[in-house]
Amino acid sequence: MKFNKQDILKALESISLAGEGKNMVESGAVLNVITFADEVVVDIKMTTPAMHIKKRAEQDIITTIQEKVSKDAQVKVNIKVEAPTKNDANLIKGKPVPGIKNIVAVASGKGGVGKSTVTANLAVTLAKMGFKVGILDADIYGPSIPLMFDVFNERPLSVNVGGKSKMKPVENYGVKVLSIGFFTKPNQAVIWRGPMASKALNQLIFDADWGELDFMLLDLPPGTGDIHLSIMQSLPITGAVVVSTPQTVALADARKGVAMFQQENIQVPVLGVVENMSYFTPEELPDNKYYIFGNGGAKNLAEDLEIPFLGEVPLVQSIREAGDVGRPAALQTASPIEAAFEELTRNVVSETVKRNDTLPPTEAIKITTMAGCSAVKK
Ligand SMILES: Nc1ncnc2c1ncn2[C@@H]1O[C@H](COP(=O)(O)OP(=O)(O)OP(=O)(O)O)[C@@H](O)[C@H]1O
Ligand SMILES: [Mg+2]
Repeated sequence: MKFNKQDILKALESISLAGEGKNMVESGAVLNVITFADEVVVDIKMTTPAMHIKKRAEQDIITTIQEKVSKDAQVKVNIKVEAPTKNDANLIKGKPVPGIKNIVAVASGKGGVGKSTVTANLAVTLAKMGFKVGILDADIYGPSIPLMFDVFNERPLSVNVGGKSKMKPVENYGVKVLSIGFFTKPNQAVIWRGPMASKALNQLIFDADWGELDFMLLDLPPGTGDIHLSIMQSLPITGAVVVSTPQTVALADARKGVAMFQQENIQVPVLGVVENMSYFTPEELPDNKYYIFGNGGAKNLAEDLEIPFLGEVPLVQSIREAGDVGRPAALQTASPIEAAFEELTRNVVSETVKRNDTLPPTEAIKITTMAGCSAVKK
């Protein structure tokens, strides 16, 4: 028996891979279909190396072909894993960062809404999925990533790379970390101006030995001021994730955050909005949800601004405790917190894939006035 390749492709059109809106044929995930005798070999590419997601895709393909084409088909699936980038060499124009495929900024308008918590948990979840991840903690006012990764007493070592001395990021839970906090004294007030912050961050990116990274997450300080414009001036950011709580004041500031990235002369694509502290769930009553800050605010904001809604994270005591003891909560296996961060992370990955498929690389931006109102591209 020999199967018709078109029938196989038609059957595959009914499958959407995790995190992708389009079916797997449309999205270009099917690389090749070969049929001979009773055998059907399907080569596909995926952007996640997570074992359980690959297994599920393989199972979906086998079952679908057997159901829709022939129950006798012997189906073999080969999966090739690709990091979410279209063209590595060209992805980062402006000032290329060798080896770093995507720089994703995590921002908010308002302070204290959970940027650092979201960054830390996104990072460990990406690492669990098999991506190579780094965090650059750019919060010059209150760097919190060293605490959240339990590395606040460590200092980056110096290594020799090709005859040049470079900083080696500190590593924990499979995530490489560099922070402004490693270089400032805890109780010393540092008054930063935009250009100083950009210079320090540039050193942390270009004078460090990050190796290959699929994602560098940038934990930004709160606000939408001159510091942010300076950071965008010097770094080619692939996209931004905006964090908000459902509270009206936080949403108003998140709107400003989105507007900052979307300014005509900045144009950093916004990958979407995350709602943190969406509802309170007592640990002992995981099905009870109390919407203490209001319900659905960030989803409505995302709809209103026509940007993706990436997911919600509940307000749970253990998320705060995990942050304080330096072990991000998403590391708790088989917990609802892990599940919430997995969904969020899948959406961030798929929005990054979409962004890289549809838009040219973000260029670093040259700011001409410090007021930050007028910025022009290089
Ligand atoms: N979903 C959550 N559940 C419980 N506690 C949370 C949650 N998200 C954040 N927190 C806690 O709220 C506090 C503020 O969070 P975080 O430091 O992540 O905010 P931030 O936006 O980075 O703040 P800043 O603007 O100061 O940088 C922390 O103590 C953190 O542990
Ligand atoms: Mg923070």
